[in-house]
This record gives sequence, structure tokens and C-alpha cells, in this order.
Amino acid sequence: MQKVAKRENWSGHFIFILACIGSAVGLGNIWRFPYMTGLYGGGTFVLLYLLAILLIGLPVLLVELSVGKKLRVSAIEAFRKMLSGKWWVALFPLGLCLLVLSYYLVVMGWTLFYAAFSLFGSFPPFSEAVGSWFLPMGGVASLLLVVLVSRVNIKDGLEKVNLYLFPVFFGCLLLILLNALTLPGFGEAVTFLTTIDTSLIFSPIVIISAIAQAIFSLSVGEAIMLTYGSYLKKKDEIFHSSLAIAGADTFIAIMGALVVFTVTFTFALPTTSGAQLAFETLPYAFLSMPYGMVVMALFFILLFSAATTSAVSISEVLVDNLKTKTGSRNSASIAMLALLMVFFIPSLLSFSPVSLEFNGTTFLEFLDVQVVGRFAPLVVAISLIAFTWGWKDCRKTIEENLPALLATPVYLMAKYVVPVAVLVLQAAEFLGI
Ligand code: PHE
Repeated sequence: MQKVAKRENWSGHFIFILACIGSAVGLGNIWRFPYMTGLYGGGTFVLLYLLAILLIGLPVLLVELSVGKKLRVSAIEAFRKMLSGKWWVALFPLGLCLLVLSYYLVVMGWTLFYAAFSLFGSFPPFSEAVGSWFLPMGGVASLLLVVLVSRVNIKDGLEKVNLYLFPVFFGCLLLILLNALTLPGFGEAVTFLTTIDTSLIFSPIVIISAIAQAIFSLSVGEAIMLTYGSYLKKKDEIFHSSLAIAGADTFIAIMGALVVFTVTFTFALPTTSGAQLAFETLPYAFLSMPYGMVVMALFFILLFSAATTSAVSISEVLVDNLKTKTGSRNSASIAMLALLMVFFIPSLLSFSPVSLEFNGTTFLEFLDVQVVGRFAPLVVAISLIAFTWGWKDCRKTIEENLPALLATPVYLMAKYVVPVAVLVLQAAEFLGI
């Protein structure tokens, strides 16, 4: 009989929290959140996002960590145990991991490219860079980095990446924030992020986008938190840790938006430039600031370090599940590499001289909009239905990890409110209501 290897554990509780924050804080906070906020009405989107974190993201995070900690197995095994054999339901979160990582690595590659170029004192505008192979080369380097980290156990790979990169990330964020405070557009950015347009507040597309952003930003729904929870020990606590994770993630998203919009308003740039906001629009502004090259280098190092700690969290889930088939981490990381190619290559070619398009948009933007915006909330609903309807121990497990007063509301949110809200909103948006 095959020997079952003992499940890995975190070296300590602090590193667990740091790794969860590392997963949550990423391009979603400093690239996606600001550009979505710009597209969907500033303060209105911020308000809906905060509500979505509190009412949806946080409960899902608590449930996912609790389930992981209870079962202490890979995602496939967890679904097999919960749903009496129906392991294939795990293919939804795992498929989502694969899709997200495929394009996340490409954007991470752009941050690497810009970090490297600004360190050397030059800046090719994004619109020109896409005509060269530099951006895809950044993507390939990011892919290799993540595969290398995924080959080693969590203590030597994942934990070290988070431990080393968090101070880099935080240092850059602090310096950039201090710089933003000195710019004249700071006040306008605060006004933009706090002004609420009541006509947008009930728009299904704005609400579902805020929910999707909260889900993406907290890294829930992809079995990442389930896997991270499964490396915990029985006595580890989850409730306060989740508050810290959600708090840090939200705080950093707001800080990211503050920086981005301060620069946007200082230089009278459009707020609605979409996915290219951080890469096309902002660098021009950086260049006209004192020490602009340094600020730009800090900004892209910040983005790259944030992206790395998120990307390794997604690859951890894939490798953890693949290794039960392939037998070792090493071979699992090669299998992951092979699987990633299917969507990574078209994403990579989206912003290259080939400029690959799908359905009228680049393949990468298609993934960002359809997968993160539409598929991910559905996967969260599917996972929650599996946990709460399909598994008899779910309620007990939540009760074991949450204060008594909160266990029932969180359970009810996970069982009824979140799945129904997601399905209704998706349908409303689909029907164009
Ligand atoms: N939460 C990460 C971010 O904000 C992205 C991510 C999504 C990471 C899903 C893991 C899983 O950038």
C-alpha cells in the first residue's frame, strides 16, 4: 500500500496570517481595485466593495478556513469527504485557479518588466511595449519563478517568499503613500473615493462587480484558503486571524486606490482607462514628478512583490492536488506547468506583437472580465452549497471556530444569502436588468 505522507504544517501562526495576507494582497488591490473603482463610479464602488467584504468575503473566508482546518486534506480529498465521493466538484475551484493563474502571471510579468526597466532608468510606454516581446518575456520569467517556488515544501518555498517579500512590499507602499501625500491631487482623490452616486448603488453590474472584486481580493472561492487552513493545527485559531487578513487586505486596497487616484488627479488623467490604468496612464505621470523614476521603480516593485505572494498561493493549491496523483511536489509542479500552458500562452500573446483577440477583446481581458467577474462568484456559490448543503458537519465546524454569537449568522450567510445573492445578481446582469 502507498504510504500516506503527513500533511505539512505552517512553521507558526504568524506566518500563516502573513501568507494569507500575501495571497489576498496582490494585483487585485493595486491594479484591479483602482481600475474598477474608476470605471464604476468612485465612492459608490468603494462603499459596495466594503459591504461585499463584510457580508460576503469575510463569511466565505471564515467558512473556507474552518473547513480546511477541520479536514486537513487537499481540496479534491476535502470535496470527496464532504460530498460522499463527488470529488469532481473540486474541479470548479481548481479550474478557476488554473484560469486565474494563467493570466495573473502575465500581468505579473508586466510588473516585472516595468520594475526592471525603471531600475535601469528607462520607460517604454505600454502601447509601445506591447509591440515587442519584452512583456511576454516578463510573463515567462514570472511563470518560471512560481514553478520553482512550488517545487519545494511550504516551509522552504511559500513561507520564505512571504517572509522576504512582505517587508519589501510594505516599505514601497509606505514610501509611495508619503509621496502621494505631497501631491496636490490627494484631496481630490479622497473626494472621489468617498462621494457616493446614489443612481449607481442598485445597479446589478456595479453590485456584482463589487462582490467579484471582494471575492478576488480575499482569494476566496479557489480553495486557496481551504488549503491554507488545512496546514493549520487543531489548536490554531481562525476568527481573529480572518479579521486581520480581511482588514489588511481592505486597508491596502484603499491605500492603493488613494495612491493611484492622487496621481490621476494631480496630472488630470482619465479615471476610466480600465485595465491599462497602472501600466499606461500612471507611468507618464510618474515621469513628470520629482524623482519620478525612483517612484516608478518603487511602484512596480510593490506590484511585483504583491503579485508574487498571490501567484504562489494559487500554484500551491494546484500542486497540492496534483501531487496526490503524481506522487511528488517536483513532478506535480511540472504537471502544473503543462496544464498552465493551455491558457497562459493565449494570455501571454494577448499583449504581444501577435495581439491575440477573442470575442472582440484580448484573450487576457476576456479572462479578467468573464472568469473573475462572472465565473468566480458562481464558483463561490457552488463551493458554499457543497459545504453547507452537502456536508453534515459544516455547521458544527463553523461553531468550533467562531464566537457563539457569530456562528449562526455566518452559517446562514454561507448557506442561503451568498449563493442566492450571487445567482440572482448574475441572472439580473445577464438579462440586462
Ligand atoms: N487576491 C489576489 C489579489 O488581490 C489575487 C488572487 C485571486 C490570488 C485568487 C489568489 C486567488 O491580487
